[in-house]
Amino acid sequence: MIGRLNHVAIATKDIASAAKIYHDTLGAKVSEPVAQPDHGITTIFVDLPNSKIELIEPLGTDSPIANFLRKNPAGGVHHVCYEVDDIIAARDRMRAAGATITGTGEPRIGAHGKPVIFLHPKDFVGTLIELEQA
Ligand code: CO
Repeated sequence: MIGRLNHVAIATKDIASAAKIYHDTLGAKVSEPVAQPDHGITTIFVDLPNSKIELIEPLGTDSPIANFLRKNPAGGVHHVCYEVDDIIAARDRMRAAGATITGTGEPRIGAHGKPVIFLHPKDFVGTLIELEQA
């Protein structure tokens, strides 16, 4: 069911220094920071030939990544995002498999303007998974 790896998201308390590491040390092409108040994060995209890295920093007082950064103060891999052809069919398949979908379980519009759902890490080898309709 899952298709391409769309991105790996890395959470950090300091997105400017994370971007500098990716740009200066690793030699990657990085975007300008984009504030996403609807998602409680600021994002910088790192372009790779075959995928993307998203550097994410909390924005506002109630960021969904604040708790992760309390547990991982140095930052770390927050989630991986796989593409699916049909988000509703994917959601229904995950429900039938007994997986826990975070939030209401209804797809919402993600950081790329496409419908997404998130799958709880407890069912997926300890990794938070985002499914995004391609
Ligand atoms: Co994501």
